[in-house]
Amino acid sequence: MAKIDITKTELVWPGKYNEDGTRQEVPRVSLPFQVIETVNESRATREAHKLPLQNTLFDVYEGKEGDTFEAGWRNKLIWGDNLLVMGSLLEKFAGKIDLIYIDPPFATGADFSFTTEIGESGDEIIKEQSAIEEKAYRDTWGRGTASYLDMVSSRLRLIRDLLSPRGTIYVHCDWHVNHLIRGVLDEVFDTDNFVNEIAWHYFGFKRKTASNFPRKHDTILVYAGTDEHTWNVQYKPHRPEYVARFKKDKSGRLYRDDVNPTAGGARTIYLDGVPGDIVDSVWDDIPPVNPMGAERWAYPTQKPEALIERIIKASSNEGDLVADFFCGSGTTLAVAEKLGRRWIGCDLGRWGTHVTRKRLLGIENCKPFEVLNLGKYERQYWQGVTFGESKDKPLAERALYEYLAFILKLYGAQPVTGLAHLHGKKGKAMVHIGAVDAPVTISEIDSAVDECAKLKQSELHVLGWEWEMGLYDLMVEASKKKGVKLLLLIIPREVMEQQAAAKGDVRFFELAYLEAEIQQAKKLTVKVALKDFVIPNTELIPDEVRSKVRKWSDYIDYWSVDWDFQNDTFMQGWVAYRTRKVRTLPLTCDAHTYEKAGKYRILVKVIDIFGNDTSQAFDVVVK
Ligand SMILES: C[S@@+](CC[C@H](N)C(=O)[O-])C[C@H]1O[C@@H](n2cnc3c(N)ncnc32)[C@H](O)[C@@H]1O
Repeated sequence: MAKIDITKTELVWPGKYNEDGTRQEVPRVSLPFQVIETVNESRATREAHKLPLQNTLFDVYEGKEGDTFEAGWRNKLIWGDNLLVMGSLLEKFAGKIDLIYIDPPFATGADFSFTTEIGESGDEIIKEQSAIEEKAYRDTWGRGTASYLDMVSSRLRLIRDLLSPRGTIYVHCDWHVNHLIRGVLDEVFDTDNFVNEIAWHYFGFKRKTASNFPRKHDTILVYAGTDEHTWNVQYKPHRPEYVARFKKDKSGRLYRDDVNPTAGGARTIYLDGVPGDIVDSVWDDIPPVNPMGAERWAYPTQKPEALIERIIKASSNEGDLVADFFCGSGTTLAVAEKLGRRWIGCDLGRWGTHVTRKRLLGIENCKPFEVLNLGKYERQYWQGVTFGESKDKPLAERALYEYLAFILKLYGAQPVTGLAHLHGKKGKAMVHIGAVDAPVTISEIDSAVDECAKLKQSELHVLGWEWEMGLYDLMVEASKKKGVKLLLLIIPREVMEQQAAAKGDVRFFELAYLEAEIQQAKKLTVKVALKDFVIPNTELIPDEVRSKVRKWSDYIDYWSVDWDFQNDTFMQGWVAYRTRKVRTLPLTCDAHTYEKAGKYRILVKVIDIFGNDTSQAFDVVVK
């Protein structure tokens, strides 16, 4: 191994340096974001600063809005791995984020697991980790502390570049890793930029411990980007012992005579002139989230809003940009929203992202926000890295062949050659695989069904990443008429995770579908009634969940309607969802009145208890 030139004290772990003594580069991949949903914004506002219409299922985020709400800023909830997400944010947000709080997984599997409830009864089930969450966990802890430090230090290096000159980073950790993370923070941000080590003492039930004091605090490490960082002194109520030292004067004001610690001599202090007890680095006045309390959103690692409120108030001002790249149930985003900050949040988990969306929607007057991911760009990136990328035709064809062969293998099918639209065979069924970068279309399936019929094949399985709207209804029936049984299966994101794929962790679920009725009761006024929601092949659903589902609507956690879908982003016009308190879900929405008669496309979106989206478009003529 080459000599490593260490010039200052630093923490070293196996794998930190390459064989040649250089430091591993942090991947800085810049991929475009896709806007998958816009929430709480009227179509009119949106049209006013409209992006060019994309003829796909999504808008591409162009980052053209300004840095204030008045200039069109929309808060952002991003679903994806924070390494790719932060890398992709750098182009627009390098040096722009004023406060970052992160609460990375510590060392317990509980970081990813959560409970979810089913239907009106609210029966609880523990949601197992998805393969992708398990993989993130294995990546984090697979080589013990060394891989954990690789994970944290690469994220902190990206965070350093995103932080504004007035910015501050808060890293929440506990006794398992605080000693290590502090070493990494010293290196990435420099010891001169250390601000605080906060002990958050969460009181609560204590057990007698055999050989140590009960561990009852977390550590929050605070570093600044520069010494110009934003700082607002925080106060808490005075302790009763302090107040007891004051006496009433003739007018009833509470006062106390004291020595002046700076100027010397005596001075009189009035209690109403003291803003409160200055908060120091030991925080012992904030309880943990009560598992039974209203604030609880089903995450075992959820942090209390009061804790984050103190952090946001101390280190940012209204209108500043606050981010959390391990946002879990969205505590930081909810508090930032309530305090008038702009925010960006990111989480890898499908369910975490969904819970956060519901949590934000529950905030009165929540400002417009958008839900984004890297979608097809992340898949294209994966395809290029995994199978090669080339403008040269034979090489490009070879890469495509390898992509198809890989998906077929995961699906347990054999490749077939010489056919135009069919790529493989599994048992008696022919298989068609959709492209990484485009939704599977009706005409694509039609061609594959025709080819099957010509070859006298009676079953077709189509595997796709995304789907053209309304395709299920049309295609399943149409293919039956041509003598071909059609199965539509989703290629899951886990396919892109090498270890998950190698372990055989990949499951292909059938596309769910919904039935709805569009009702026009009065002039220009329309309602949507959900009539059915079907997850085919329920045998793939764990028994524990299936046994608790009493009716089809129990599978639905959330549904919403876009009254005027423009074939770009889903714009939520009406929404209903279950909360821990209110388990009922209306199956008919409130009436919507259009301004003028005409043809409209209504998009209905259902999110099921697994966090999967199913959408269906309805073309209506409103009179
Ligand atoms: C300790 S929890 C955060 C809890 C959060 N502070 C709250 O109040 O709900 C850690 C979160 O990090 C997410 N996570 C872990 N690795 C990630 C990655 N590579 N990219 C994005 N999110 C990740 C997990 O899905 C989990 O939700």
